[in-house]
Amino acid sequence: MPGAAVAGWGIALPERRLTNHDLTGWLDTSDEWIVERTGIRERRIAAPGRDETTGPLAVRSSRAALERAGLTPADLDLVVVATTTPERPIPSTASMVAAELGTTAGGFDLNAACAGFVYAVTAVAGLLAVGAARTVLLVGVDTMSSVVDPLDRGTAILFGDGAAAVVLTSDPAHGVAPRPTLPGVGGFPGMPGLVASDLMHDPDGVELLVVDAGGAGMPATAETVAANAHKLRMDGGEVFRRAVRGVTVSVQRTLERAGCSPDDVTLFVPHQANARIVASVLPRLGIAPERTISTIDRYGNTSAASVPLSLVEVAESGRVAPGDLVLMCGFGAGMAVGTALWRWDVAAGAARAVPITHDASPAEGPAPKSREDAA
Ligand code: ACO
Repeated sequence: MPGAAVAGWGIALPERRLTNHDLTGWLDTSDEWIVERTGIRERRIAAPGRDETTGPLAVRSSRAALERAGLTPADLDLVVVATTTPERPIPSTASMVAAELGTTAGGFDLNAACAGFVYAVTAVAGLLAVGAARTVLLVGVDTMSSVVDPLDRGTAILFGDGAAAVVLTSDPAHGVAPRPTLPGVGGFPGMPGLVASDLMHDPDGVELLVVDAGGAGMPATAETVAANAHKLRMDGGEVFRRAVRGVTVSVQRTLERAGCSPDDVTLFVPHQANARIVASVLPRLGIAPERTISTIDRYGNTSAASVPLSLVEVAESGRVAPGDLVLMCGFGAGMAVGTALWRWDVAAGAARAVPITHDASPAEGPAPKSREDAA
């Protein structure tokens, strides 16, 4: 099996923490309700202005990942940014990241909502397999506060902002070696790192999580702004039900393709949308709670950043060793669902003991109701 390794990783978070208690200042909700129904205690929210939005967060997490990898932007062949809230409609956020880093590497954005990072891992593994790229910067980032209506208690309690980046490489020059096939494990032959994956849609769920305006179908006008049509609308209960079903099916199909049982999985890294979704899925899959990770209490649902933010904590924690199988699953608007079973390996450079780059410090005082209000 060709090798692929994580060479580096980094995160970037807005400074401001928005706690459940802060939300009770303007929403008819409570800390108890939010914790019990979602598992969320606080989330990070971008400050007014353009310092903590999708582009800058992506760039900061990318710099941290490159530093951790001991690589420079010139080592990159490709920049892939998974996001559903790009910095601007044109050009891609990946183009902005490449320009800020000063690399001629190609790049593109990938929008599969909260499943974006898992889709991107699968796509990048294919590009590594055919030799179209050898060292790739892969970012999951979203500024959900830019599309969430702060007065909608069905969404305002859930979402947060953030970014996480990893550098994936199949380049032997960065200390990556081919890996022997695991006994009894099938999956995709010739895919560096990726043992198996599943990408699917629940097409009946396409209208459940939508921002109506701002695209080609309904360009921005004074009327669309007045109608709040640039904000997210969600049928939370139906998303919940379909997420449980979709994740269960997608993970089972991935394990079947790999010829693996749930017991072969060292760690399950699910999208952090609601702790109760994960709790519902685990027994259906036969995965023990101690073999998963939860970061939702601190970050909320950070959309495309949620899986990589958790993955970075996994990398830092030492909970996985080279050769272990890491199962990632994302689901979101569309409804897009994606699962990737990844054979964990770390490139030589990243094995150095460098502390994680947290570029955000605790904020003072309550967060503003919205970025507009605070401006
Ligand atoms: N605070 C207090 N009470 C609330 C709140 C709140 N924030 N929200 C709803 N309620 C009330 C409701 O009014 C209702 O009251 P009633 O019984 O008197 O009518 C009661 O609580 C139950 O409401 P539900 O909507 O059934 O609450 P539920 O347990 O489903 O939780 C939630 C709502 C948290 C939104 C949940 O449905 C959920 O997490 N869904 C999944 C959403 C999700 O994952 N979205 C992201 C997908 S990823 C992406 O791509 C963006």
